[in-house]
Amino acid sequence: MRNLNQDNITQAVIASFGDTRDPRLKEIMISLVQHLHAFAREVKLTEAEWFAGIEFLTRCGHITDERRQEFILLSDVLGLSMLTVAMNQDKPHGCTEATVFGPFHVKNAPHYELGADISNGAKGTPCLVRGRVLDTRGQPVAGAHLDVWQSDEDGLYDVQHEGLTQAQARGTLNADAQGRYHFRSIVAVPYAIPHDGPVGALLEATGRHPWRPAHLHFKIDAPGYQSLITHVFRDQSDYLDSDAVFGVRQSLVCDWVPQPDGSYLLEYDFVLNPASAQ
Ligand code: BEZ
Ligand code: FE
Repeated sequence: MRNLNQDNITQAVIASFGDTRDPRLKEIMISLVQHLHAFAREVKLTEAEWFAGIEFLTRCGHITDERRQEFILLSDVLGLSMLTVAMNQDKPHGCTEATVFGPFHVKNAPHYELGADISNGAKGTPCLVRGRVLDTRGQPVAGAHLDVWQSDEDGLYDVQHEGLTQAQARGTLNADAQGRYHFRSIVAVPYAIPHDGPVGALLEATGRHPWRPAHLHFKIDAPGYQSLITHVFRDQSDYLDSDAVFGVRQSLVCDWVPQPDGSYLLEYDFVLNPASAQ
């Protein structure tokens, strides 16, 4: 394997994976190299452009820590996260659609009783959220576990507030025996994804904005059902048609209804996919 040139280097790299023990890893690496080389050929990548790409990825690495994941953000704005969700979450008709997980979920969020106020002091207009967790035959999923998180009125998640130690506008609850859930929180607003790093620079350079439409995140789990990771979006929010991470599904857009006392009511039923169904 000497004197490789632009006509035979791709084949040589592919052959180098010949002894890969894990067949799936072998398939992925061969395909990755084929597509990477085809991309470089198609755009006639210069050495300066290759180096700019390396510097960009280096900046993504440097800004990433336990509170900031720039590579997920990059995957999100390139539509790769949503493509992966769409390919892997092709559920039977009637099931609630999935969307991107995002970087702001926190494991072991506080657990609340039904009816509790999960905002826990977060700034925003009060909102009652309620609905049911059902199966595909319309039967309740008793005791389903709901994990909820959202930004505050300033468009920031609790983890983005420097020095804030308590959870705000996030928590877990269990639906009752009839699959019903209800809790108090605040009205979600559109917010900009973190854009003070290399991904923000990429958005700027390509004339794109960093905004997401108003939404509430849910992760719903119950024994015998596929885990559901989704949002409920606010009807009439800005950016529903230009979500920076391509996550909007019309079936997840819902009216958040103003109440006479100035608060809001959001009602949404979730339908889970049985674990055996694909
Ligand atoms: C979110 O909705 O929390 C989110 C999703 C993708 C990128 C940034 C934020
Ligand atoms: Fe979000």
